[in-house]
Amino acid sequence: MKISIIGSGYVGLTTGICLAELGHEIIFMDNNKEKIEVLKKLEIPIYEPGLKELLIKNKDRIKFVFDIKEAVSDVIFLCLPTPPNNNGEADINSIIQVSIELAKIIKDKKTIVVKSTVPVGTCEKIKQIFGNRANVVSNPEFLREGYAVYDFMNPDRIVIGVDNDEAKRIMKNVYEKLKEKIIFMDIKSAEMTKYAANAFLALKISFINEIANLCEKTGANIKNVKVGIGSDNRIGMSFLNAGIGWGGSCFPKDTLALIKIGEKNGVEMKIVKAAIDVNIKQREMFSKKILNYYKDKAKIAILGLAFKPNTDDMRDAPSIDIINFLLSRNFEIKAYDPKALKNAKQIFGEKIYYASDIYDALKDSDGLVLLTEWDEFKNIDWNIARKIMNKKIIFDGRNFLKPPKDFEYYGIGLPKE
Ligand code: UDX
Repeated sequence: MKISIIGSGYVGLTTGICLAELGHEIIFMDNNKEKIEVLKKLEIPIYEPGLKELLIKNKDRIKFVFDIKEAVSDVIFLCLPTPPNNNGEADINSIIQVSIELAKIIKDKKTIVVKSTVPVGTCEKIKQIFGNRANVVSNPEFLREGYAVYDFMNPDRIVIGVDNDEAKRIMKNVYEKLKEKIIFMDIKSAEMTKYAANAFLALKISFINEIANLCEKTGANIKNVKVGIGSDNRIGMSFLNAGIGWGGSCFPKDTLALIKIGEKNGVEMKIVKAAIDVNIKQREMFSKKILNYYKDKAKIAILGLAFKPNTDDMRDAPSIDIINFLLSRNFEIKAYDPKALKNAKQIFGEKIYYASDIYDALKDSDGLVLLTEWDEFKNIDWNIARKIMNKKIIFDGRNFLKPPKDFEYYGIGLPKE
């Protein structure tokens, strides 16, 4: 099938390139001319493992256009941003504007697939814009940054909200090669599923962080408690890694948007609010743990800036709040991250030193603070580290490192060594 992707960001790019891998012909459209020019050179403007290889492999089935008039196919995916507006509600303006534009130019009946995360009822609004000239479908994504290609090709489920059999048949063709994973449902439930999924994952992390904080006070070990509860298949082991909590472009945005959907419908989302509160406090708690140790300013080596490993994304990364807290107490920061330094420079400017590797960061430091659990940090040469650090002290925001006993080690929710 010929499929158009409107919006070539994290979600749009992965969706379109993976749909090409499934055998479809893809037309990408984005109003950012620069981005389109980069993509035409088969370059990927984001760091997403495996995506560039798939783009090159399927390049003969992929086109990039700048003009929406060239991006009208029988199936059109809307992968536009829905950022929080100033009161936290999801801003659906981009999707509405694009829908109005498309409604003016389409000649025969299309299938409009809303891939973006949108408040319950948004597809209804889009349906009104198209009238009987389009089927509108809700198809939320569950892609994790850094694992997006894997998650697309190996989904636990493909949720599709439809309101007629024609739309159902068309979407079965779109996902033909993954059809056993499709769950059809009504449109509003599909829109709600996305928010409920992200909010649950976020609160699962905040729950284990709250238990970790209590472990730290009582002498229990959160790593053991995680196994103890995660072995129950009703709980499961995933998303139970205690640490400095969640960031990124989705959990913060979607939990806030869900609270606003609740407010608009007269329902207070108490648990989701608590998950956000615990998450914000986790960053403060960890920052104060470092401050209380050094009492006064110190030179700190920060390992990891991205909101999680395998991405260069710094959006709402815990590292931002933690570094700003330490800078406000006159700490000197030397930071290293395998992929996120370029984005970090947009945030911190000249306020911190950008190290070229782990040891450039550790040199002359009074301590190592790990904020992102990149695999390469597993292989730190502690013999070098102990020679070049002023003090052998470690604050591990992800309970990730296993340093030798002569290092003072502080994790989260772990008993004193
Ligand atoms: C998330 C959802 O997983 C994905 O399904 C949805 O489509 C988009 O939002 P993403 O934000 O890319 O994906 O990252 P994810 O891997 O879910 O991690 C989110 C945050 O939680 C990261 O900051 C990560 O460090 C943190 N996290 C994750 C924990 O603190 N503990 C955990 O056990 C797992």
